[in-house]
Amino acid sequence: MADTPTSIVVLTGAGISAESGIDTFRSEGGLWEQHRIEDVATPEGFARNPDLVLGFYDARREALAAVDPNPAHHALARLETEFSGELLLITQNVDDLHERGGSARVLHMHGELKSALCQSCETRSRWDAPMSAKDGQRPACPVCKAPSLRPDVVWFGEMPYQMDRIYAALATCDLFVSIGTSGAVYPAAGFVQEARAFGAETLELNLEPSEGSHFFATSRHGPAGQLVPQWVDEVLG
Ligand code: OAD
Repeated sequence: MADTPTSIVVLTGAGISAESGIDTFRSEGGLWEQHRIEDVATPEGFARNPDLVLGFYDARREALAAVDPNPAHHALARLETEFSGELLLITQNVDDLHERGGSARVLHMHGELKSALCQSCETRSRWDAPMSAKDGQRPACPVCKAPSLRPDVVWFGEMPYQMDRIYAALATCDLFVSIGTSGAVYPAAGFVQEARAFGAETLELNLEPSEGSHFFATSRHGPAGQLVPQWVDEVLG
């Protein structure tokens, strides 16, 4: 990382929000030990038991009120404001901590807890309320009024958002940085190899070596709340 980068792509995962108090997925006691992926994170699970799925995401949305962004989110917001080159911040997270930390341009490739997707008219609407049925009635879509809202999160078997834009940025960036993600879920896990194939430097900032650590030219291990502000300071000089 000798030269100052001019175009950076940052990918974040659950690890960046861990120090804020949001459970990661694959840690001991993490979300995927508490719940079966097939039940709460697939279209088939939703079709089988919408009440269970809506309740799961309602609880996660409500829990956001009790957490705050941490120094890693704030540091990336500072990078957005002060970096003179191009920056694309991609997150796999469905929380809103990047935005609350001050980032104005965040690409949520796995959707957002505070967004609803209407299965009738396909409109995505900002949504901060419960989506579960109340008195037997599910809330209406603000646009078409059908009671057909689902969480606007990308489930297993579905296509993440804005992949064309992401691959275009990976092909032209000179630095790809992955923060707090296990490298267990594609397509995000493959971004490092994509960026490398186009000649980018690659850096991993993670608590421990991830599944894809060996794909990165440089890996630094420790809590995001320390590593990310340090790295941002280096980039901004
Ligand atoms: P994971 O739970 O798979 O991985 C979190 C990573 O963060 C692990 O490698 C941890 O070591 C690391 N970590 C934990 N605490 C950290 C800290 N304080 N600082 C830095 N790193 C830390 O979460 P993701 O990689 O985000 O998708 O998971 C990817 C996708 O799998 C999610 O977006 C979600 C999930 O299933 C869908 O639901 C479609």
